Amino acid sequence: MNFRNKDWRNGMRVTVDYNNMMKKFVGADGFKDSEINELKEAAADAFDCVAQGRGKGMMGWTELPYNQKEIVEDILATAKEVRRKFKYFVVLGIGGSALGPIAVFNALCHLHYNDLAPSKRKGPKFYVEDNVDPERMAALLDVIEPEKTCFNVITKSGATSETMAQYLIINDMLVKAVGDKANDHIIATTDAAKGNLIKLAEQNDYKTFCIPDGVGGRFSELCPVGLLPAAVLGLDIKAMLAGAAFMDNVCSKPSVAKNPALASAVLQYMAMKRGKNVGVMMPYADSLKFMSDWYCQLWAESLGKNVTLDGKPCNVGQTPVKALGVTDQHSQVQLYTEGPFDKVVTFLSVGNYRKEFPIPHGCEDIPDVAFLGGHTMNELIAAENKATAYALTKAGRQNYTITLPEVNEFTLGQLMYLFELQTAYAGALFHIDTFNQPGVEAGKQATYALLGKKGYEAKREELDNAPKAEDKYIV
Ligand code: PA5
Repeated sequence: MNFRNKDWRNGMRVTVDYNNMMKKFVGADGFKDSEINELKEAAADAFDCVAQGRGKGMMGWTELPYNQKEIVEDILATAKEVRRKFKYFVVLGIGGSALGPIAVFNALCHLHYNDLAPSKRKGPKFYVEDNVDPERMAALLDVIEPEKTCFNVITKSGATSETMAQYLIINDMLVKAVGDKANDHIIATTDAAKGNLIKLAEQNDYKTFCIPDGVGGRFSELCPVGLLPAAVLGLDIKAMLAGAAFMDNVCSKPSVAKNPALASAVLQYMAMKRGKNVGVMMPYADSLKFMSDWYCQLWAESLGKNVTLDGKPCNVGQTPVKALGVTDQHSQVQLYTEGPFDKVVTFLSVGNYRKEFPIPHGCEDIPDVAFLGGHTMNELIAAENKATAYALTKAGRQNYTITLPEVNEFTLGQLMYLFELQTAYAGALFHIDTFNQPGVEAGKQATYALLGKKGYEAKREELDNAPKAEDKYIV
């Protein structure tokens, strides 16, 4: 990857085109320049808030492109060993400890990576277990060989029930399969001091990577959480970090016209204030399909809050929806074009796909088919992307396009950092705590109580005394 070359870097810049958010293009529902201008001060304040918070509190993630030199070398050396020793690499984790590795794997590896012959892959077969569905765990165990598998257990808190349940299963299986060598099959990625995983890592002498202070789950892809799996897959993690640093620099001005992350945040904020409570993320690339999952967690868990930093009730946030171009043109786009005016569609477009696929001539006697011949699939997908944006715009629906000149480590690093900054700016505009997730706690505590965790007896009683389901409502 040529990321050290300035011209190459500039040619790989990820851009945000928000023409179709504007009145001039989208009509009544669009914004006027003057309306964006009215938010100039609020945008500058949000910019300052993020700039001043950099590296502090829960904003340690802003510094990840710059402060991991030694860690990156350790990751690369570890990844090399993993590739040499193991045939399978399995991530155990959930939420922010899994969605980033899944997104990067799908974006940057062959779309049928695990089906390729080993000589055609740069790393071991790769799986991410981000659920506790028993069928899925059984299915994983059907396709891996424990004695040839490395497990990367990832949990910032070191306490997440799903991840620790998986750990117990895997550790038990490893001990049965390889005895006292089990510890060599586990790599822990967790907080340096807090939680149970670090204790287990110390007891069992697991190779351990730390999730730095101030880096929460959904902001952790550019630390060892995401970098180790990526390096094991043979991806260029230095280019990913360089991409993030590049985007950080692109976003160094407090103005919507010059800072794509701030532009995106301000536009979405304005849209939300006008009732656009749904944000559709629609990549036109199978490789970016799982970037939507990663983005959805980032946007939903960060902005979905019921109280401002001053303690005022607020109930803000935007429901993120995943869609895939062109597939969902044949499923969801009807709703987006004609349904309620409650959405903003974000397209993720790709300049150059990594492959070109020609459509051969044929069916000359059927003009409705023959017209496709001589084009490429690249032209077709680009035309459909453009056509969908046009149709939405014509129907008065706000949409905007983020373009990656190509999908590679450098552009992906840019995109992830762009989304992280955008989320932080949006949180600052709403004046909320972007980095906590108290709403996730209620469900977690109820699970602990139902499974008999010590200290949750009162919660258990509360659950036992909750109104019972009535038969008349079960049909
Ligand atoms: O963003 C977050 O903080 C959460 O979604 C976490 O990533 C998720 O709950 C998993 O937590 P942990 O990494 O502590 O196991």
